[in-house]
Amino acid sequence: MCGIVGYVGKQSALPILLEGLKRMEYRGYDSAGIAVLNHGTLFIKKNVGKVTALETSLKGADTSANIGIGHTRWATHGVPNEINAHPHVDCNSKIALIHNGVIENFTSLRTMLESQGHKFRSDTDTEVLVHLIEEFYKTSYDMEFALKRALSKVSGTYGIIVLSEYEPEKLFVARKGSPLVIGYGENEMLAASDASALVQHTRKVNYLEDGEIAILTSSSAVIKTLDDVEVERDAEELTFDLEEIEKGGFAHFMLKEIYEQPVTIEDSMRGRLLEDQGTSVLGGLSHVIDKLVHAPRIVFAACGTSWHAALVGEYMFEQYAHIPVEVEYASEFRYRNPILNKDDVVIVISQSGETADTLAALREAKSRGITVLGICNVVGSSIARESDAGVYIHAGPEIGVASTKAFTSQLTVLALVTLLLARKKGMPEEAGKEIVHELKLLPEKVRSIFNDTKQIDLIANEFKEMRNFLYLGRGYNFPVALEGALKLKEISYIHAEGYPAAEMKHGPIALIDKNMPVVFIAPRDGSYEKVMSNIQEVKARRGRVIAIVNEDESEMDQLADYRIIVPKTLDMLAPILTVIPLQLLAYRIAVFRGCNVDQPRNLAKSVTVE
Ligand code: G6P
Repeated sequence: MCGIVGYVGKQSALPILLEGLKRMEYRGYDSAGIAVLNHGTLFIKKNVGKVTALETSLKGADTSANIGIGHTRWATHGVPNEINAHPHVDCNSKIALIHNGVIENFTSLRTMLESQGHKFRSDTDTEVLVHLIEEFYKTSYDMEFALKRALSKVSGTYGIIVLSEYEPEKLFVARKGSPLVIGYGENEMLAASDASALVQHTRKVNYLEDGEIAILTSSSAVIKTLDDVEVERDAEELTFDLEEIEKGGFAHFMLKEIYEQPVTIEDSMRGRLLEDQGTSVLGGLSHVIDKLVHAPRIVFAACGTSWHAALVGEYMFEQYAHIPVEVEYASEFRYRNPILNKDDVVIVISQSGETADTLAALREAKSRGITVLGICNVVGSSIARESDAGVYIHAGPEIGVASTKAFTSQLTVLALVTLLLARKKGMPEEAGKEIVHELKLLPEKVRSIFNDTKQIDLIANEFKEMRNFLYLGRGYNFPVALEGALKLKEISYIHAEGYPAAEMKHGPIALIDKNMPVVFIAPRDGSYEKVMSNIQEVKARRGRVIAIVNEDESEMDQLADYRIIVPKTLDMLAPILTVIPLQLLAYRIAVFRGCNVDQPRNLAKSVTVE
């Protein structure tokens, strides 16, 4: 949800800013802009569309500036056009500012500032920030002071970087509720919403906390609180490599990330399985494990794909650990005053660790004294830092907006937590060993799905023009039906719904005809026979069936129009395999339709607004 980047140093700022924006484009891509100081004077360029459009419009531009800021936008207030694109400037065009987040009280601030004579150009909430800074600078001639005063007036969330002609050697950075990381280079400093924009230049970083500002020059980075207390915090080392955030020969990040899954699933388990004891070891949970084992209830809160992972988690925890579980949309949980008892445990799941609703759910639970665990991918993210304990999924950077490898790693980690809890609650060692054994086989089984994807291509080609799809599954594969439908919607813009297979009779069956393909997730599990009956019902109405099945199933041969085979595993682990062909199917259909797979319209990877 908007990516921001700033650079101050000895190098030419422009290419560094553009490179950083490209790496963060998954955060928003409806418009982009930069501001640099050319010989002390602000130069600003903004464009509607992708960063490449901005880059093209900057061909031949003066590249002498050594300081600058850049922004890639996902519109919240004001349509995507050049005027609403960032950076925004004050009345005299001396101060430029970029922002990720939402200023909630912008209407009243704007009215106040306009009454004081400030001239607004855009429809954005952001613009009030730069006029507020201007207002306080007028009397203090001190940018740091003006920034702090301005921030004391706003409510909402922000990650901002400010550049001005008044103090031309400095970038001013501030954070509340939107991610911001400082990068320490050799005679250069950077700041960005996301470490992926910095890793090319430095591995030494410092994640700003809410309520902190930073003043960057080419040789220093001073971090302070808004109350002027200097913050001493050691820098951290980035643990991922540049190549992890590049496409590596794949046409799209999403495809690369789908194909990474044998490795990422393995990484999620690495060092965490105790084969001889039939259990798992999760260091991040060690100090809360008793609390978790004795929890009368566990509440999952998450959004999007992570919410689907939570649904699978519910089935796992209830079946094996016998703990009652509820799964909440984080956005609903936060506002409906949920009943939480003191020994309940809340588990938030988030790939990015920055989703605003999930973070708000975490804070809501914590404010009531509830223990909150986080299952996150991004190390050092807000959710990871604010949780009482947690487990990283170690899937590596996920850039494609549609989540794929994070989902299977979330499921793997949920299986590890299930195993740990179940064993502590009396599951026999042999049963634990079987789960460990099956977990270890997963990477190879995923690989085997990739050995032959011709059938998926064929199906994608056949159905690429359809306007609706229905996805059906039961038990552990009901959340997979939801996830399969979400993938298709997100990247191909085909309407798709996921349903529990038996619920089809209570509505969706009315829609079924030859133009409504039905995808059944039907591995040979406890629900197989029932799902077969549901398939019969669809066929009786001339529906066309695509079935995800295990091995060759002769009866399925006669019924399903198309079959995609995935290897068999334990029921609880089946979603990790059955979702893979659905990711590929959505991907192929989107490519056939000429859609922008990595940057689907209107979506963003990290939704940092509520
Ligand atoms: C956005 C992304 C989804 C993601 C969801 C939750 O909608 O496009 O892919 O599942 O946010 O994100 P999180 O980072 O919290 O898992």
